[in-house]
Amino acid sequence: LKTVNDIKATPVRTLPDAQTVTSVRHWTDRLFSFRVTRPQSLRFRSGEFVMIGLMDERGKPLLRAYSIASPSWDEELEFYSIKVPDGPLTSRLQHIEPGDQIILRPKPVGTLVLDALLPGNRLWFLATGTGIAPFASLMRDPETYEKYEQVVMMHTCRTVAELDYGRELVEGLKDDPLIGEIVGDKLKYYPTTTREDFHHMGRITDNLTSGKVFEDLGIPPMDKEHDRAMVCGSLAFNHDVKAVLEEFGLREGANSEPQEYVVEKAFVGDGI
Ligand code: FAD
Ligand code: A2P
Repeated sequence: LKTVNDIKATPVRTLPDAQTVTSVRHWTDRLFSFRVTRPQSLRFRSGEFVMIGLMDERGKPLLRAYSIASPSWDEELEFYSIKVPDGPLTSRLQHIEPGDQIILRPKPVGTLVLDALLPGNRLWFLATGTGIAPFASLMRDPETYEKYEQVVMMHTCRTVAELDYGRELVEGLKDDPLIGEIVGDKLKYYPTTTREDFHHMGRITDNLTSGKVFEDLGIPPMDKEHDRAMVCGSLAFNHDVKAVLEEFGLREGANSEPQEYVVEKAFVGDGI
């Protein structure tokens, strides 16, 4: 018979802060998304990020920042990820399958939250690559549409296939039984590519400065009184978009001091 001490001595197989993978979808050879169980106690604001990861070979947690791509009302958590071929985490994370466990530290933080902006009429989400992840959350949050009359999602990638995750998400919103009606026709989606032919092309910075996006969508140019923006991309992208937004008169805000726009890095480094 096992005694209490025997049971205590049994090695624990569960990771600290473990969550179970429920589904995985590969979009390209560089991009995948996955869903995991949600810790019951986890509360977060749409747009925030958490640290997630796997155990390394030495049994130490290998963690990276990840935006939560699912809205705060979802009973699971969704993530949208790059696959860096020799990246310490994603070279392994890209092989997860349903039933596997990942580590998830339940401490959400971040600047891309609705509270960090002053009230306005139109909200712009400006993203490149995996930078769409926080907006995948915010686009599915009813609060976004309660606070704004119109929401514009600009997403730019090199190729058409890299837009698929965002496109499918936006297309699915109309028929979503939970928020389809709330979204209605308030959401304008403006995807572009820069290195493959597509019906709309060009960098976000160029489409804003030339005025093309305003013309295409039939809306007035950005101004400080009506427009608010959230930015998420590479360091170079964030830097250049900030300059464009400042030209339109918008100022950068933070949780502690709401203004007209907020920025967050989609990753650290130069990109691959
Ligand atoms: P790392 O050693 O972390 O990165 C290696 C190199 O790969 C980097 O120097 C960079 O050049 C490139 N790289 C890393 N991440 C990306 C990326 N997302 N897109 C393009 N190039 C990249 N990554 C996600 O895939 N999805 C997210 O939702 C996400 N949210 C983040 C939120 C924040 C606040 C920050 C700071 C980073 C976020 N990242 C996200 C990046 C993530 O933390 C890791 O860098 C990424 O998972 C790669 O980990 P790695 O250990 O394999 O390689
Ligand atoms: P481009 O193809 O003209 O470089 P990456 O894959 O390098 O992270 O880039 C993702 C997308 O972001 C690409 O479409 C890229 O356009 C665009 N991009 C990269 N840097 C900037 C920047 N500084 N300003 C605006 N767009 C950028």
